[in-house]
Amino acid sequence: PALVIAIDGPSGAGKSSTARGVACRLSMAYLDTGAMYRAISWACLTDGVDPTSHSALFARAETADLQMGLDPRHPTIIVDGHDVTREIRDPRISDAVSAVATTPEIRTLLTSHMRQIINRNPRIVAEGRDVTTQVWPQARVRVLLVADAETRIARREAQLLGKVDRHRVSSSIVDRDRKDSTMSEFDKPAPGVTLIDSTYLDLGQVIDQVVGLVPTELR
Ligand code: CDP
Repeated sequence: PALVIAIDGPSGAGKSSTARGVACRLSMAYLDTGAMYRAISWACLTDGVDPTSHSALFARAETADLQMGLDPRHPTIIVDGHDVTREIRDPRISDAVSAVATTPEIRTLLTSHMRQIINRNPRIVAEGRDVTTQVWPQARVRVLLVADAETRIARREAQLLGKVDRHRVSSSIVDRDRKDSTMSEFDKPAPGVTLIDSTYLDLGQVIDQVVGLVPTELR
């Protein structure tokens, strides 16, 4: 049966691990909407597009061909034939992505692409910043996943182990929180969205809580 699960939250709250875990558990597809913003950012950086020009960023985004691999065990993303699955995690992309994500025309473009993907894959877990509120507010299950800033920084640091130092991770997350806060509000969940605070929960417990929100007949 059709089932869309939407999970939003700030950087480092555990969205990706949770969404992938839930998708594996319930045999669903998995869509990382942040990866789409990151891929556009990769294309713009690669082509040397002026990051201060919304119109130049949009022009590049418009011509980008994004192919999303939706397997939660190994999600992939290909942009214009390049597999950028790994490269989009580079801190250089994290630093540049807000310029792309705050370009309204790019948000409209990517949002309609996301909706097409969800329409074609009726059993899907989609995660991001605005899936519960903008992309697919009609999702059967809607979750806002949060955690204390300290916890999010520590988790992201563990994820990037050895590649970047703690100060760099901390300022990058704090910086991106600030940039993102102009477009998404994570202090309180929108009506109908379930708040899950993962600060004192391990991954298995968070996955259990999300699965617990799914009506038994849809699992
Ligand atoms: O995993 P992390 O929280 O580091 O970020 P992400 O989910 O990969 O998303 C990267 C960036 O894309 C975010 O910092 C947002 O600026 C943007 N984004 C967005 O604007 N809307 C979404 N639905 C998803 C991501």
